[in-house]
Amino acid sequence: MKARKIKDNIYWMGSVDWDRRLFDTLVPLPDGTSYNAYLIKGSEKTALLDSVDPPMAHELLSQLEGIPRLDYVISHHAEQDHSGTIPQVLEKYPEAKLVASSKAKGMLMDLLQVPEESFKTVEDGETLSLGDKTLKFIYTPWVHWPETMSTYLEEDKILFSCDFFGSHIATTDLFVTDEGRVLEAAKRYFAEIMMPFRAVIQKDLDKLASYDIEMIAPSHGQIYPRASLIIDAYKDWVLGAPRNKVVLPYVTMHESTKQMVDHLVSALAEKGVGVEQFNLAVTDIGKLAMALIDAATIVVGTPTILAGPHPYAAYAAFLANALRPKTKYLSIIGSYGWGGKTVEVLAGMIPNLKVEVIDPVLCKGLPSEDDFKALDTLATAIAEKHREQNIL
Ligand code: FEO
Repeated sequence: MKARKIKDNIYWMGSVDWDRRLFDTLVPLPDGTSYNAYLIKGSEKTALLDSVDPPMAHELLSQLEGIPRLDYVISHHAEQDHSGTIPQVLEKYPEAKLVASSKAKGMLMDLLQVPEESFKTVEDGETLSLGDKTLKFIYTPWVHWPETMSTYLEEDKILFSCDFFGSHIATTDLFVTDEGRVLEAAKRYFAEIMMPFRAVIQKDLDKLASYDIEMIAPSHGQIYPRASLIIDAYKDWVLGAPRNKVVLPYVTMHESTKQMVDHLVSALAEKGVGVEQFNLAVTDIGKLAMALIDAATIVVGTPTILAGPHPYAAYAAFLANALRPKTKYLSIIGSYGWGGKTVEVLAGMIPNLKVEVIDPVLCKGLPSEDDFKALDTLATAIAEKHREQNIL
C-alpha cells in the first residue's frame, strides 16, 4: 500500500498484515493487524515515527522512496514489530538520528544492535522542533514494555501512541469507521498485553489528561479521529469496577465436568449472575483474556488427570495469574476418577490473584444429585458475594 495523507504534511506509512494470525507465538489475531509508521514533514526537518515488522520492510522502504532526507526516526517502543526495520531505515538515511527514551536506547542496542552514535535520547516532556511542527515526547511506560513513550504533535493535537490504544485490525480504512468493531479489538489487545500494568497505565492516562488531544494515531489498527472514544474505554477497563459476571474456562474429557459446568451456568443465570464459559479445547484464548477484564469471579472447570488439573486448565490458570485481572472470587469444579491434587495444584498457580476462594466442588465420576446440590450452593454463594460487594 502507498503512503496515505492524514493531514497536511502528516502521512500514514507502514503495512497492513492481512494474513497474520498469531503474535509473539501466543496472541491470536483473528482480524490480522497493521504496523503503522508515520511521516511528519516540518518546514525545516522531517521525522519518521516508528517502522514496521521486518518481513514488511520492503513496503516501508518503498513508501520512503520519494523522501530525500530524514532528520529523525522516532522509536516509541523497542519491540520488533515497530522497531525491526529501523536499522534498514538508518542505512538508507545515515544522517538521521534515532530518537528514543534512555531506556529504549539500551533495548534497541541490545535487540537490533543499533550503534550508540545513532541515538538522540529524549527525556519525558522534552520537545523537538521540525520548524513549524513540534514533537513533544511523553513517557507512557508499561504499555506493555518499560521503555514505551508517545509523541504529541502540538500544532495538530495528534497523539502518536504506538501500542497504547492500538487494535489488531487489518483494513483499508485509515480512520475508525465502525466504533464497536474497533473497541472490541482494542479491548482484546488491552486484555492480552496491558491488563497486568493497570496501575501504571492509570498514571499514563492521568498524564495525558492535561493534553488537548483531538486525534490518536496508534501503531496498530485504525486512527481515532475522536480521541475520547478510546480514552474513555481505557478508563473503564483500567478503573471500572468488576461486573456481576463469572468467567468459566473449562476442560472436559468424558463429559462429567461438562455436566457440572452446564448445571452451574444454569444455576448462576437463574440467580441473575452472567456467565461467559470457554471450552479450553477450542476457545480463542484472546476472548478469555477479554472476559477477564471485568469479571468478579472465575470458576475453573477441570477433570483430574495425572493426579492434577488438565494441562489446558493449568494454562488458563497460568494466564489468569499473569494477567492479574480485578477478579475478587475464585472457585474450582470438576470430576476425578480415583484421587489427585487438582485443587492444591491450581490454587498454587495463582499467587498474583487477590481472590477469596469459594469452596470447590469436585465429584467422583459422573456428578450425583448431591454434587448438583453442591453446585447450586456454589452458585448461591457467588451470587451472595456479588450482592454483598454491590457488584451489579
Ligand atoms: Fe506492537 Fe509491543 O509491539
